[in-house]
Amino acid sequence: MPNIRRFSVSLEKDLSGQFDLLIKQKKCNSRSEAFRKLIKQELIQEEWLKGRETAGAIVLVYDHHKRELLNKIMHIQHDYSGVILSTQHVHLDHHNCLEVIIIKGKPREVQGLRDKLKIIRGIKCSSLAMASTGKEIP
Ligand code: NI
Repeated sequence: MPNIRRFSVSLEKDLSGQFDLLIKQKKCNSRSEAFRKLIKQELIQEEWLKGRETAGAIVLVYDHHKRELLNKIMHIQHDYSGVILSTQHVHLDHHNCLEVIIIKGKPREVQGLRDKLKIIRGIKCSSLAMASTGKEIP
């Protein structure tokens, strides 16, 4: 196969056993595939740690009946319009809404946005999916 470099890896038996268990749990087809996934995950973490431009999504669940909650969410999102690419709002039931805020920008700004949103009273759940722009990941 072109553009493939082969190398051997030496691991302690215990660590190698743990690795094989992990491969089974993650349903990887081979050790090579597992290594590729681990390396890519590490590159994404580096992107976030080193402050490079990155991408991801913030997911919120909240009760839209809570007083002032929608105004606060909207106000904060306007303050961070530079990093927000898109927002999708879904009505889960009569009370609950799920909102996905797709972001691209510096990790510090993205985390600032997430921190401001998650402390709003009435937010039931907030999470940040740290993905990548993909530019530095082969
Ligand atoms: Ni809704």
